[in-house]
Amino acid sequence: MFKKKPFFIVFEGVEGCGKSFQSKKLNHKLKKKGFKTLLTREPGGTSEAELIRNLILKDYFKKKNNKFDKYTDTLLYLASRNEHILNKIKPAIMNKKIVICDRFIDSTYAYQVYGKKVDKKFIDNIHQKILRGIKPDLTFILKVSAKSSKLRLKKRKTKNRYDNFPQSFYNKAQKSFLNIARNKKNYFILDSSTNDSALENEIFKIVIRRLKTK
Ligand code: TMP
Repeated sequence: MFKKKPFFIVFEGVEGCGKSFQSKKLNHKLKKKGFKTLLTREPGGTSEAELIRNLILKDYFKKKNNKFDKYTDTLLYLASRNEHILNKIKPAIMNKKIVICDRFIDSTYAYQVYGKKVDKKFIDNIHQKILRGIKPDLTFILKVSAKSSKLRLKKRKTKNRYDNFPQSFYNKAQKSFLNIARNKKNYFILDSSTNDSALENEIFKIVIRRLKTK
């Protein structure tokens, strides 16, 4: 039997990598085993944070060339994270739940720092205040081929502003995720190009193994 303990799992990867799908599958499998879980996402996760999500991801400006400055954009992601940690992630961790989050801090490093060249120290400073000691126990980076991600994005009914970027943008973001994960023992890079049940099972096995040793 497993002792009830908090555990924080994050899925990261580029658009169309299948991380939302895999988060749901893992949540379902853990629930079936009797674990208390919380499935959530960023940006968003609480009604307040989802308001900020809508603001960031919708094509909010009527004129095509108008957009927020990259620091405004970053602050909005961080504002949404603050609400999410304070009101949802931290309480769940305190209640010894297994939290599964679709995107977290590495998305900010991959997209804003590596992608948009936002100053990393600026983000680290804010994180120091808002993370409140919360850090992932395990991060899955789902790596996907350009062909598979394109196909998945094409099938998507509701698209956001990030779902229509050129392929070079996704290639760069994927490279950043792989760099972040390099040589870190709490990171697993898994190929999700086929997104079949073998991948689901592999993820589940890794989680159970880590839960046993925590
Ligand atoms: P999603 O489509 O996976 O829900 O994510 C929405 C978009 O938000 C995704 O394209 C990446 C972007 N994003 C950032 O740029 N920085 C962040 O910190 C987070 C959490 C997401």
